[in-house]
Amino acid sequence: MITINENYLKLQASYLFSDIAKRVSNFQENNPEKDVIKLGIGDVTKGLTPASIEAFHKAVDEMAEDSSFRGYGPEQGYGFLREAIAENEFQARGADIQADEIFVSDGAKCDSGNIQELFSQDITVAIPDPVYPVYLDTNVMAGRTGTFEKGRFKGIVYLDCTKDNNFVPALPKEQVDLIYLCFPNNPTGTTISKEELKTWVDYARDNKALILFDAAYEAFIRDENLPKSIYEIEGAKEVAIEFRSFSKNAGFTGTRCAYTVVPKECLAYDKDGKSHSLHALWNRRHCTKFNGVSYPVQRAAEAIYTEAGKAQCKALVDYYLENAATIRKTMASLGYEYVGGNNSPYIWIEGKMDSWDFFDMLLNKAGVVCTPGAGFGTCGEGYIRISAFNSHKNVKEAMKRLTKALG
Ligand code: MLT
Repeated sequence: MITINENYLKLQASYLFSDIAKRVSNFQENNPEKDVIKLGIGDVTKGLTPASIEAFHKAVDEMAEDSSFRGYGPEQGYGFLREAIAENEFQARGADIQADEIFVSDGAKCDSGNIQELFSQDITVAIPDPVYPVYLDTNVMAGRTGTFEKGRFKGIVYLDCTKDNNFVPALPKEQVDLIYLCFPNNPTGTTISKEELKTWVDYARDNKALILFDAAYEAFIRDENLPKSIYEIEGAKEVAIEFRSFSKNAGFTGTRCAYTVVPKECLAYDKDGKSHSLHALWNRRHCTKFNGVSYPVQRAAEAIYTEAGKAQCKALVDYYLENAATIRKTMASLGYEYVGGNNSPYIWIEGKMDSWDFFDMLLNKAGVVCTPGAGFGTCGEGYIRISAFNSHKNVKEAMKRLTKALG
């Protein structure tokens, strides 16, 4: 008899964004005349930059000729892309990351979900609340939690992110082994200072813990004093793995390209306390389970590091930040409290009511889709997240409708 991994039965019925998509499609079926504006899932709407498109086309043409055709590429990514990433994303900011510490992949979601395979079942995992659901769900699937009670899984150390701590979690009181951090944060859009991030790096070093740092939204940071990478903090290379993506800075949500940085110094321990290189373990996993990102996609990603590519990506992110400013201004004028949206594409709004009710009300009264805060954890109850990823025209129209519905 084939039996299932019963940990899956502990999960909430469906993944947050699939749940929202289903509600929206039901609404559209029942109200075909209504035009819905989606400011829910953080999916980009603008086309790829000319620099990426040109490189993409050229690489596709290379695939047509036997002499320049590429079959299986290196699982870790082509050298040209890994070198461009190391130089432009890290070394340029004083972070000593080398090309061979970078693993190119098809998504930060997959990597942040898969990485926990490297760790034993009985570690203590600390996860912020609210949080991007992938961190928690993948640990539930792996059997690192007990049952779901009163909105929380037993066995997880939740790091509350509330108005009282400016949505930046405090260090845990108990010892934890694996810590998830995401800045600029999804969903709250808040950022962390170098000083605050250093306390986490110091905690991890003191406790032989590991930080999984999700920096998928770093391109939205406009405040030069804020860290874009955890490796800007001294000592982080020994205790942190970082996830990055081309989705939000270069519009690759449908094109698929991302990378994970696993420094060579980064260690974890066996039951006898002997240290092991996480770089070697992740490399082993990557080579076994992943066949690399396609050559044209990697060339398109590399092109964002040309002078033209850099300027075009900055303009792309600036475009969405302008939307974020529009959303902030509207919410302020309506008297709502919010955070995020200045170094992030997400605005986290205190809705003054149940967050799913707020979601339904906005959809029904304004035809605008947001993300209910409760979907990100118990501390998200009463909040909604609005994403800046849409056209100026749609965001302005959505804010007009919102003002009418809420004003
Ligand atoms: C979100 O809306 O939180 C993101 O789009 C999710 C993702 O990038 O997978």
